[in-house]
Amino acid sequence: MIVSKKVETWVKEWSDLCQPDAIHYCDGSEMENQKLLDMMVSTGMAIKLNEAKRPGSYYFQSDPSDVARVENRTFICSARKDDAGPTNNWMDPAEMKKILTEEYRGCMKGRTMYVIPFSMGPLGSKIAHIGIQITDSPYVVVNMRIMTRMGKAVLDILGDGDFVPCIHSVGAPLQPGQKDVKWPCAPIEKKYISHFPDTNETWSFGSGYGGNALLGKKCFALRIASNMAHREGWLAEHMLIMGITNPQGVKRYVAAAFPSACGKTNLAMLIPNIPGWKVETVGDDIAWMKFGADGRLYAINPEAGFFGVAPFTSMETNPNAMLSCKANSIFTNTGLTPDGDIWWEGIGSEIPEGTITWTNDIYNKESGKPAAHPNARFTAPAKQCPVIDKDWENPNGVPISAFLFGGRRPGTVPLVYQSFDWNHGVFMGSIVGSEVTAAAIGLKAGVRRDPFAMLPFCGYHMGDYFGHWVNIGNNAPDVSKLPKIFNVNWFRKGPDGKFLWPGYGDNIRVLKWIFERVEGTAGATETPIGLIPEKESINISGLSGVADKMDDILKVNQKEWLDECELIAEHQAQFGDRLPKEMSEQFENLKSRLNG
Ligand code: OXD
Ligand code: MN
Repeated sequence: MIVSKKVETWVKEWSDLCQPDAIHYCDGSEMENQKLLDMMVSTGMAIKLNEAKRPGSYYFQSDPSDVARVENRTFICSARKDDAGPTNNWMDPAEMKKILTEEYRGCMKGRTMYVIPFSMGPLGSKIAHIGIQITDSPYVVVNMRIMTRMGKAVLDILGDGDFVPCIHSVGAPLQPGQKDVKWPCAPIEKKYISHFPDTNETWSFGSGYGGNALLGKKCFALRIASNMAHREGWLAEHMLIMGITNPQGVKRYVAAAFPSACGKTNLAMLIPNIPGWKVETVGDDIAWMKFGADGRLYAINPEAGFFGVAPFTSMETNPNAMLSCKANSIFTNTGLTPDGDIWWEGIGSEIPEGTITWTNDIYNKESGKPAAHPNARFTAPAKQCPVIDKDWENPNGVPISAFLFGGRRPGTVPLVYQSFDWNHGVFMGSIVGSEVTAAAIGLKAGVRRDPFAMLPFCGYHMGDYFGHWVNIGNNAPDVSKLPKIFNVNWFRKGPDGKFLWPGYGDNIRVLKWIFERVEGTAGATETPIGLIPEKESINISGLSGVADKMDDILKVNQKEWLDECELIAEHQAQFGDRLPKEMSEQFENLKSRLNG
């Protein structure tokens, strides 16, 4: 492999510090991948799944202390604290680098340093960017091979150009003769997921799991890229991208931002319940967007795989996700059945006797402990998705006609409403909230404001981020070609505590209204919060028991929204004078419409 002087010098600097036993440049080949997987099976880190049931697939159990992204150990180290804003943990970059340099010193002893050149986005796309990750985790290498375009071809394109440097260590050096553990990592207080937006760097230490360790995903494609996009006038968003085709064969693409655990993967792969409509997937988590020569906004999915939450994914809830991970996939923290396949809560079948749990115990119903960790994941190649869009790797991206925002809101928020204009849509994105259950992710129960679903991922001041969205509208080459903006809520509940709307494949009924709003063929009624569907303009034919509930499903209740305004006021207050005036104006307008 030809490695530029720039890359070589950088790798030397880091290997001098981390002191690995060996350095391996990843070429991304099938042979290299198999060798790493075989090595991990031989050391007990991985289990090969039953080839007849789950070909080419492997099973991992993490350390019980290393199971999810760690937001309280995630830092934005901008030069000025003010630039990280109230929603991020900040540390002075020099101070953080000092701490981490000491942690990195000798941290790869007894291990191999892998150098992973990767492209976020189709190779050579003008919207894509190249990064290089250094890691001492072979698990990270095999996951990055699924989640990104990785290896020799990337170095060939890079030449001696610049790349986004991503440093990662599990933070568990081995003394001579010391036996490795199944999942090496550092204790929580030693974990640091650090970002240096002024120099586009990520330094991650101490965790081997998910977004903490697969640095192309949340660290680069969102936290660093949101800074790049802010500086350069484009968008890096926590959004799925899907194509929707109507029975006449007209196709439109939409991008949708929902907080984590609100069903982005399910929506991206939805199987429509009304005949003649088709949904195809471009991406399920991240969208990078730039204006094209025709004045439209074009999006690419910077990733090449799905890192999906396994529990409650089934042939009923998301057959396309189940089929995507049928083979050549990695499963982390699911259950393991005696016949060498995976199992998780909500997979749609009884748990086989003798299933091993993610903590490596025999499953015991009485214990009350699940077989799979709630954040157990599958890593699956996007190209295996049966409904992957034919343009998912188009280097030019796909043109976006609509943005959707939403979250889990048991009350207040109707099934769907459209913004009056761009800035009103930005305001809608800025007040996204979602109900969190305390048990699942250790947060306070209630509505968590998660603007644009970017709360854990915006790499700079959230007030400036809202301003960036306002500027995208102001600077659009042609305002009439900007995506239309909608808010959706599949999760409204009735007085009996049950969901009012059936969700899943029936969400196409809402997407159909959105599609027809984009086309200018569906009617809308003005309310104080935005435009809701005219009665009868949502197709509910064939749905039993829904007609009676439509008023409740679409209701905009003045009292509930005035209460919501109190929460919005609190939310906006935290941004101080960095809240764009357009957002205060939108809030004032909302209140006067509600009181008017
Ligand atoms: C994810 C997340 O894993 O948003 O995609 O947490
Ligand atoms: Mn996500």
